[in-house]
Amino acid sequence: MNPTALTILIAYSAVTILALAAVLWIWKSTHSFDRDRKDEVDTHKLVEGEKGWFIFAVITLGILALATLAFIPYGDNAAAKGQQQVSVEGQQFAWVMNPGTIEAGTPVRFKVTAKDVNHGFGVYNDDNVMLFQIQAVPDSVSHIVYTFKVPGRYQVVCMEFCGVNHHNMIGQFQVEAAK
Ligand code: CUA
Repeated sequence: MNPTALTILIAYSAVTILALAAVLWIWKSTHSFDRDRKDEVDTHKLVEGEKGWFIFAVITLGILALATLAFIPYGDNAAAKGQQQVSVEGQQFAWVMNPGTIEAGTPVRFKVTAKDVNHGFGVYNDDNVMLFQIQAVPDSVSHIVYTFKVPGRYQVVCMEFCGVNHHNMIGQFQVEAAK
């Protein structure tokens, strides 16, 4: 099992276990096991508790937003000077890229479309790590800008089920060192 698959397995297992624990906890907290118990509901305490949870949620989401804002890739999609343009067309069951070679170190604008049905343009490096993906949609052109830092062989894998031969819809291209 490669490291990426292992990471995904561990992360998904952890989230599943946490979710099951939460479900169990909620179930337990809403079921009374003692039939004779007659609790007075302290609404004041509940209101105070709710305030606490609200503040907790706002702070947690705020921290998550601030911590991850810098990783949003959309800013990279702004027009960059001297960027390379590559047209990509997906069709059952192949990728056509023009031009087929790319230079490292300069932003590449991929203009992605599809000839027949929806496909997913997913680009992997030689270590099988996914770098980015974007939908390939008929009658529409999707843009994504990416800068390759390392020259070498890259793979294109279709990320959207598009027919019987979807799993074979794999392409590749070369990234050459900057001249
Ligand atoms: Cu094209 Cu799946």
